Amino acid sequence: MQMQNQPGCIRRMVDIGCGPGWLVRTARRLGIDYLGADPAHHGDCDIAGGRIEQRDALNTIEELKDSDVVILNGVVHHLDDLTLEKVLCSSKKCAATIICDHRAEPSNHLVNRILQRLDRGRFIRPWDYFQSLTGYASQMLEPFEIRWFGIPIWSYFAGLYLPKDVSDG
Ligand SMILES: C[S@@+](CC[C@H](N)C(=O)[O-])C[C@H]1O[C@@H](n2cnc3c(N)ncnc32)[C@H](O)[C@@H]1O
Repeated sequence: MQMQNQPGCIRRMVDIGCGPGWLVRTARRLGIDYLGADPAHHGDCDIAGGRIEQRDALNTIEELKDSDVVILNGVVHHLDDLTLEKVLCSSKKCAATIICDHRAEPSNHLVNRILQRLDRGRFIRPWDYFQSLTGYASQMLEPFEIRWFGIPIWSYFAGLYLPKDVSDG
């Protein structure tokens, strides 16, 4: 993200489904504002470096600006197809979108497949889905495993997506 922000075009991090808002520290380090949004947050509050609001993804996209970086960290598997489509369509106007989430593959370890089935998020998608998102060019798209005693218990990925016209130019 630091590399992407060389010209200083990113001024705010919008962390959709932010949970406790851990990423505010990263935003502070980068010298940008932070807006965390989560429907499970109790009300709205100011925090050092930004703000957390009780909002779901669809209520947050109305707020997006072209100088935002949108973060979807462990949230996409909670969003149904229509909601995700709307979020990705709106975030195309932003400087960048970063997604980090589960990936479902037949080759995933049995323990991982059981844990994914038990997860509260009902929309764990195949890795293929994230390799090309309409209207975006992906950069630094990395699959990885989170291991526990050597067992790959979570198959995850992280990707930086740029709106296509920007990444082409
Ligand atoms: C696995 S947690 C990730 C939290 C945080 N991003 C992190 O990495 O610490 C998933 C979060 O998504 C939120 N969430 C669920 N449905 C959502 C929706 N429709 N819009 C926005 N956030 C949602 C949940 O409340 C929860 O805090």
